[in-house]
Amino acid sequence: MSDTTRRAFIQGTAAAAATVSLASGAFAAGDDTLRIGLVGCGGRGTSAVVEALRADPKVKLVAMCDAFMDRLEDSLTSIKSKGDIAAKIDVKPDGKFDGFDGYKKVIERCDVVLLCTPPGFRPLHLKAAIEAGKHVFCEKPVAVDVAGAKSVLETAKLAKEKNVSLCSGYCWRYYHPMRETVKRIHDRVIGDISALHITYLTGGIWHRGTKPEWSPMEYQMRNWYYYTWLSGDFIVEQHCHNFDKARWVLDGKTPVAATGVGGRQQRRDPKFGHIYDHFAVTLEFPGGVKVFSACRQMEGCAGDINDHIIGTKGSAQLMDFTVTPSGGEEQSFAKPNAKSMYQVEHDELFAAIRAGKFMNDGESAAYSTLTSILAREAAYTGKRLTWKELLASDLNLAPAKYEWGAIDTPPVPLPGVYKLKKA
Ligand SMILES: NC(=O)c1ccc[n+]([C@@H]2O[C@H](COP(=O)([O-])OP(=O)(O)OC[C@H]3O[C@@H](n4cnc5c(N)ncnc54)[C@H](O)[C@@H]3O)[C@@H](O)[C@H]2O)c1
Repeated sequence: MSDTTRRAFIQGTAAAAATVSLASGAFAAGDDTLRIGLVGCGGRGTSAVVEALRADPKVKLVAMCDAFMDRLEDSLTSIKSKGDIAAKIDVKPDGKFDGFDGYKKVIERCDVVLLCTPPGFRPLHLKAAIEAGKHVFCEKPVAVDVAGAKSVLETAKLAKEKNVSLCSGYCWRYYHPMRETVKRIHDRVIGDISALHITYLTGGIWHRGTKPEWSPMEYQMRNWYYYTWLSGDFIVEQHCHNFDKARWVLDGKTPVAATGVGGRQQRRDPKFGHIYDHFAVTLEFPGGVKVFSACRQMEGCAGDINDHIIGTKGSAQLMDFTVTPSGGEEQSFAKPNAKSMYQVEHDELFAAIRAGKFMNDGESAAYSTLTSILAREAAYTGKRLTWKELLASDLNLAPAKYEWGAIDTPPVPLPGVYKLKKA
């Protein structure tokens, strides 16, 4: 395969030709190795690389970046410890980058980019990767604000025009038992859906401490979870999975409006930035369907992560993978040995690239993220907030500049006082 053909194949501009090459076997004779780059070398990014390297025989990791070099080095050490992929790691010293602009260098050097930073950077990084014609795996959520989600919707369209793949980390959509369960709901085994009760009730999460030499920006970046411009608050950062499953069950519909409550009771120490630790939001969907959402991150409280679906002819429990028609037997689709959903995401992404049949989760991921943002903003404002009002806003939480030094912590949003910024 010539360099030009290889580039065309990888960028998706010669999908049909590539398929022919694959089918004829000519492809195997050329340099068809896909070069992988990682942006954001934390827990998820480190695992995503391993999954990507296991997903295809001819791939190699060539570039990595993290805001902090110590995070990158820890990640590389961990990736190297997996014996089965050791031969696929080819990150030379000039393939490692830190700071806010490292993503540009990673994108330049690879064919498939894994975007695994905190979600505040996702719209920027995704746009740059797709504009450069690279295939992308991008973690959820895909934004933290309205401006970011709108940018992702535009980028998703661009990915289609460029014939490159965009796989999102809304991973439950890649878990076979969940696909089987949702299929039965779509097959109307429990009739029409009238309501969903979705929960993400857990304990607290990590805090990475502080050091005297850290500037306020370094403190926020290292403890990104507690700052809305970086994480979107935990209702967006974590509970977004439940909102995504709800939208999946509801055939991709988006909400009409939301009303909710929330606040912080255990996370009162300023070291926890300004996010909440509990929310309860009711979302109105078309046709009178309601989604009742509750999420909490507090120590010493009951835990429950589930999606309870109430239909006119039965019910389903998504996280138990069960569907129960009224008066009938519970049907279970649980498979304890099912392949990891994280592996399936990468298997399907690389299969799509190889086949020239490009996948695109972008629009769906943006709408699930926006649904989470609607729920957050409804609780923050204390008002019934409509989808239209949300989309009319241009809420953009990014700081004016990404640079080390001073940065303020906004106040904890006070319902009744906090207002959604209009465009
Ligand atoms: N799908 C899932 O089930 C799942 C599970 C865990 C995490 N995630 C998602 O993955 C993302 C990362 O989560 P994590 O748990 O790996 O967090 P993490 O803190 O372990 O890793 C994030 C890394 O990104 C780095 N980073 C921050 N800003 C950067 C920038 N501008 N450029 C380069 N690097 C930057 C951080 O320094 C950190 O090392 C989040 O969006 C999270 O929601 C998804």
